[in-house]
Amino acid sequence: MPWHQRGVVALQTTVGSLHLPSTVKKRIIVAITGASGAVYGLRLLQMLREMGGIQTYLIVSDPAWLTVQEELNISRNELEALADMIYSVHHVGAPVASGSFLCDGMVIAPCSMRTLAAVAHGLSDNLITRAADVTLKERRRLILMVRETPLNLAHLRNMLSVTEMGGIIFPPVPGFYQRPQNIDDLVTHTVIRVLAVLGLPQANVPRWTGLSTVDDT
Ligand SMILES: Cc1cc2nc3c(=O)[nH]c(=O)nc-3n(C[C@H](O)[C@H](O)[C@H](O)COP(=O)(O)O)c2cc1C
Repeated sequence: MPWHQRGVVALQTTVGSLHLPSTVKKRIIVAITGASGAVYGLRLLQMLREMGGIQTYLIVSDPAWLTVQEELNISRNELEALADMIYSVHHVGAPVASGSFLCDGMVIAPCSMRTLAAVAHGLSDNLITRAADVTLKERRRLILMVRETPLNLAHLRNMLSVTEMGGIIFPPVPGFYQRPQNIDDLVTHTVIRVLAVLGLPQANVPRWTGLSTVDDT
């Protein structure tokens, strides 16, 4: 059995009842799927933890463990340690699979075209797509950091469907007007924008205030 699947059975048994401390302000589901850009899921978890008072629920698809291994210098244990609760993608009976589980939103970071298609068609074939389906039906905030290029018509149609259902398509496309110095800057800036869309705006971040001069000569 490949290393990335070994913990699956054990993880299913770790799911227990939640005892939320009174300091918890929000509950956010973070899913990482097998598109390139696992660093977005990683940075999102890091920033949510740094903020404090946010309870995170992590689900990682099997292909995402491949991209984590390929793209990040982080072990499975280190990634999982950034979340408050971890659910196996195969555990469709987890609390987050039900609308009765109260949560404030879900981010799929990054979101593969496969998961996008499943969400667009209400295909709850694993815990990520089921939790996304529930998030939409409960009219909660769902953000899909879709990543593929170029895009075919199926991708575009699926993005339209998710948008029509109330989901937010948030491709991690960097802006360069903040003069990023490195990849870390690009990733952090994008995740700050995701947090703002989630209703968690960050203080002390550079904001665009308009061009300072207009040269029409
Ligand atoms: C290294 C690597 C990079 C990939 N990058 C992407 C990508 O950027 N976008 C995408 O849609 N799929 C990408 N894939 C393919 C997905 O992993 C594949 O479609 C998988 O079935 C997605 O399943 P999931 O949505 O359950 O994670 C990549 C696969 C690998 C191994």
